[in-house]
Amino acid sequence: MCGIIGYIGKKDAVPIIMRGLRRLEYRGYDSAGVSVLNHGCAIEMRKAVGVLDNLFSAVDKNPLAGPLGIGHTRWATHGVPSSENCHPHFDCTGNIMVVHNGIIENFKELKDELIKKGHRFSSETDTEITAHLIEEALSAGAADLEAAVRACIARIEGSYALGIFRKDEPHTLIGVRQGSPLVVGIGKDEYFISSDVSAIVESTRQIIYLDDGEIITMKTGGYHITDFKGNKVKGVVKKVTWDVEALDKAGFEKYMLKEIHEQPNIIRQNLRMRVTKDKKGVAFDDFTISDDVLKKISKIYIVSCGTAYYAGFTGKYLMEHFTSLPVEIDLASEFRYRKPKLLNENTLIIAVSQSGETADTLASVYEAKGKGCKVLAICNVVGSTLTRESDGTIYINAGPEISVASTKAYTGQLLSIYLFTIYLAKLKGEMTAAAAAALIKELEAVPNKMEKIMRGEQEIIEIAKKYCKAKSAFYLGRGFNYPNALEGALKNKEISYMHAEGYAAGEMKHGPIALIDENFPVVCIATKGSTYDKMISNMKEVEARKGRIIAISSNGDKNVPQIAETVISVPETAEEVSPLVNIMPLQLLAYYIAQYKGCDIDKPRNLAKSVTVE
Ligand code: AGP
Repeated sequence: MCGIIGYIGKKDAVPIIMRGLRRLEYRGYDSAGVSVLNHGCAIEMRKAVGVLDNLFSAVDKNPLAGPLGIGHTRWATHGVPSSENCHPHFDCTGNIMVVHNGIIENFKELKDELIKKGHRFSSETDTEITAHLIEEALSAGAADLEAAVRACIARIEGSYALGIFRKDEPHTLIGVRQGSPLVVGIGKDEYFISSDVSAIVESTRQIIYLDDGEIITMKTGGYHITDFKGNKVKGVVKKVTWDVEALDKAGFEKYMLKEIHEQPNIIRQNLRMRVTKDKKGVAFDDFTISDDVLKKISKIYIVSCGTAYYAGFTGKYLMEHFTSLPVEIDLASEFRYRKPKLLNENTLIIAVSQSGETADTLASVYEAKGKGCKVLAICNVVGSTLTRESDGTIYINAGPEISVASTKAYTGQLLSIYLFTIYLAKLKGEMTAAAAAALIKELEAVPNKMEKIMRGEQEIIEIAKKYCKAKSAFYLGRGFNYPNALEGALKNKEISYMHAEGYAAGEMKHGPIALIDENFPVVCIATKGSTYDKMISNMKEVEARKGRIIAISSNGDKNVPQIAETVISVPETAEEVSPLVNIMPLQLLAYYIAQYKGCDIDKPRNLAKSVTVE
């Protein structure tokens, strides 16, 4: 999964591209490159392996400039991170430059065919064959770059967002979208392409979200969009409303900490937007799945990945608690390989995804749509593929989430699921107005409780210091907080690289408790609720084996401090709403453990923000 960006206009492309690459860095940072057609109509290129700072140094050392250019940040899929494999890639003549996000699945056979025709390759990547296919098409008589690109994409299979230019057409930049995100920025006689709006929003707020199967040809005098057959397509220009400040760290050391701290206001804002005036219900302004359709739903599948999966897992507990509907959850990467049953027009697929570009989640949605299912997206990115493939979308409105570790998107997804559950339960006559009002009241109390926990951050910093050297840890929870325990473990392992395993507390005695000894911290979510007594017994089983318990406990609880080595107290909350509150200390604990371990918190090794490959 990578980030691409391109510019054509009257300004120097290089500063625009470099600033954009900084915004795209979260998408991949194995290597990066930039290429321009300079004012003398010669192609120049700089590449660097490793973090983006290395490319900035290369450009500072050996500046380049020109009004047309493309850039790329790489998360390696084919070919190790190396200078040769770093984009942009080019053809034999060096006159055709390409950047690519996605995977070309049939590149091997095409590469063999091209080698037989005498093409020489300089990399191991799948991307490079696109430049050679374009070269072949031009040599075979293609009228121009657009025609040659069309000929190239007729041969390739897979997912690709491409940015392309060539020396002999200095006034043309081409973008192609198929299975990987690509947005277009419309400026005053200047145009931008990017994998993500955040990379170009400082230059223009006028954005076109390309659809799969579309090519945009941008020239200094205008642009046109066509489908892969050459038919004209009318691109819809949308105005981006969120402000650029949202993209900065606002004084926090890391995006992750900023995004943790943003959560209370995101909850407040979404409750204000979605709770009805009488506070007895919920309304979604732009919801395009009708009540009639929802009333006919007899089964729900929630499909998603990673943190979004844990949000969906909590959703299963909530929806089955408040409605009579059977709700299954599935890892999106497993869903379509297990022949799920009852996929039909009365089944609702809820696809939870921050980016709306996760390949596994999209693949599950395509599979279910093919069987007639209705699809509801719970997503953070306007215009993302998932939202355009779904029958309806509930946007979590959390603003851009830059840190690879998902925090505000998790609680935003949870809140959207709470609100949708209230809406659906009331629609089905399974939740009274009074019950809805009570649940809404509990939700409205969450932001202040989150802020109280954050005010106690220093205590969590001390706890992180005490346990940051552990090799492994368990995270245990029950009921509504079982998925939360899984999410807490994921937060820790993905940013501090400490092995952390989330587990159902009641399951420990069936084997895993064999691992417990005095070197093994066990985080237990032990706040008040229907499974509290059982959780206390599970904690006693751990304590009896000298396990070191870090307990998340309700303020004033007298039992837990007698069993746990360390206690993090949180404000008491209705059990059903407690996941929103109890995740806060777990996010902060993971953050500060990672900080003590000196990890690159916003850009953890081996990870990318949005996994657009299966
Ligand atoms: C969570 O911290 C990770 N970054 C990862 O598990 C992520 O949640 C997963 O890849 C799903 O991404 P999505 O929400 O954009 O679909």
